[in-house]
Amino acid sequence: MKTDTAHLAWNERWSTAEGRAEWLVAEPDVVATTQRLAGEGVTRRVLDLGCGVGRHTLHLARLGFETFAVDLADAGIAELDRAANAAGLKIATSTAPMTALPFPDGYFDYVLSFNVIYHGDPDIVTKTIAEIRRVLRPHGVYQGTMLSKRNAGFGAGTEVAPNTFVADKGDDKDHPHFYCNAAELVALFDGFELMSLDDKVHARPGSWHWHLTAERR
Ligand SMILES: C[S@@+](CC[C@H](N)C(=O)[O-])C[C@H]1O[C@@H](n2cnc3c(N)ncnc32)[C@H](O)[C@@H]1O
Repeated sequence: MKTDTAHLAWNERWSTAEGRAEWLVAEPDVVATTQRLAGEGVTRRVLDLGCGVGRHTLHLARLGFETFAVDLADAGIAELDRAANAAGLKIATSTAPMTALPFPDGYFDYVLSFNVIYHGDPDIVTKTIAEIRRVLRPHGVYQGTMLSKRNAGFGAGTEVAPNTFVADKGDDKDHPHFYCNAAELVALFDGFELMSLDDKVHARPGSWHWHLTAERR
């Protein structure tokens, strides 16, 4: 079974103003980390992986970084291109899968993937983390989220691969999601030195997500 199919539902969502409405304001964690990095003056080239309609991409470009964005959902990329043009911001966008990023080794100082890389089974997640590590320079910073096993979705619906569930609720979230506990997360990010790790509830009750920052080894 192909498990990295979430972009199809997200593409539908990005096609309507109603679908985009909850995804327009940058997350406080991302703002705090990127403002710190901008202030330090070392970070120059950055990637927003799984950018959606680009709430974080636009923020990164406004901070003055050389900004790249990738997603498999064309409608999200089109919306980001439109917003970047309207704001006069230069952003390099591309449509690509998270498991095969179209960039050379060590290209980025910072990679963000907020609510993205858990869309698949353990093999997809492992490949994606390896790709993130490949495109980051040594000591570059990764910031992202993972689904926690405290999340209400863990164990609900059909387990299609280890720790990977399809909710079967008949809504637009009926695609595979991978869940991990802290020990599993640390093992997945073996090629990184963890800088911070927090389990946080997002907008919906029970929507626990790990928030992490890590430095590439
Ligand atoms: C929950 S949205 C988050 C969007 C954005 N990061 C944000 O915080 O606003 C997940 C995004 O990941 C993208 N995505 C899911 N699977 C993907 C894959 N295999 N390759 C590339 N992008 C993917 C979806 O198309 C969608 O835009």
